[in-house]
Amino acid sequence: MIRWGILSTGRIARAFATALKSLPDAKLLAVGSRHRITADEFAINHDVPRAYDSYEALAADPDVDVIYIGTPHPMHAENTLMCLEAGKHVLCEKPFAMNAAQAQAMIDRARQKRLFLMEAMWTRFIPAVAQAKRLIDQGALGKVWMMSGAFCFRAPYSPKGRLFAPELGGGSLLDVGVYVLSFASWLFGKPKHIHSQARIGFTGVDEHAVMQLVYEDGELAALTSAITLKMPIEVILAGTEGYLTLHEPFYKAQRFTITPVEGEPQTYTVPYEGNGYQFQAMEVMRCLRAGLLESPTMPLEETLQIMQTMDAIRAQWGLTYPNE
Ligand SMILES: NC(=O)c1ccc[n+]([C@@H]2O[C@H](COP(=O)([O-])OP(=O)(O)OC[C@H]3O[C@@H](n4cnc5c(N)ncnc54)[C@H](OP(=O)(O)O)[C@@H]3O)[C@@H](O)[C@H]2O)c1
Repeated sequence: MIRWGILSTGRIARAFATALKSLPDAKLLAVGSRHRITADEFAINHDVPRAYDSYEALAADPDVDVIYIGTPHPMHAENTLMCLEAGKHVLCEKPFAMNAAQAQAMIDRARQKRLFLMEAMWTRFIPAVAQAKRLIDQGALGKVWMMSGAFCFRAPYSPKGRLFAPELGGGSLLDVGVYVLSFASWLFGKPKHIHSQARIGFTGVDEHAVMQLVYEDGELAALTSAITLKMPIEVILAGTEGYLTLHEPFYKAQRFTITPVEGEPQTYTVPYEGNGYQFQAMEVMRCLRAGLLESPTMPLEETLQIMQTMDAIRAQWGLTYPNE
């Protein structure tokens, strides 16, 4: 049994707790919050035996093996470093950090301490997405040359809320652009050239953005992200032998279609129970049992490269965050 702690009690922490409950080899042992009342409420609602009124107290629990971090992005680095220092393995929400410098410090510390660390890029572990990637790797599309990907949704406008406030790491790139960038990186690697434009809103963060990336062999990606506009949340990959559509919402797809250049489209349905967050937890536990310090599916060097790409994109917009 692998014993988990959850650090924070917000929306995603609640969803992750629900997912852990569905795994017979996972024990959700403890939760840590900044406040006693929220820790206790979370513990009651999710049947968690131990509730701590600080993140440090959670990290100090000797019986916790691995901690899931679900705080807003600007706290990821500080929270991860603290947990690693306390000797815990860590699964940290996306985006892994605010910038590449923070990501590098987190990775360095995990390596020094010989502890497992992974960015919670849960999309890669969703069964349909993983199957689509396997088929692509086996040549189902021939050589893949192009990707179009959109993660655009309309959040209620709230200038002090996590999605719009610069001090909470607001903006579409870090919140949802990271999904399409991560997908493109998974296929094509590190971009050679980036051209991007964003609309910076009244609170000073990117509300919607368009990114064009060119990769090593000349592969192209056209990506969009938004927190103020709704579009189909879809990925399409075009290769020499056909194209693959990961159907909406692609980040937790249960269906994809391969349309060959010649012949009939074939739709694959790969259903799952639950909210989908369990698959990344299964990967963490698989790695821990195998003695791996990182996941081969979401390696730390790639997480770092994606943060560097987002730094480069923000530099094109002149967007910086407080304390950068
Ligand atoms: N994988 C996904 O599908 C997914 C979905 C949504 C969000 N996320 C990621 O998860 C992270 C959290 O998002 P969320 O939507 O869960 O946020 P949220 O509902 O606002 O919850 C964030 C939690 O972080 C803690 N926290 C620590 N410092 C805070 C501060 N200064 N202000 C506000 N909260 C603070 C709070 O827990 P305590 O009060 O208990 O300390 C709070 O409940 C983000 O990085 C986001 O990108 C991922």
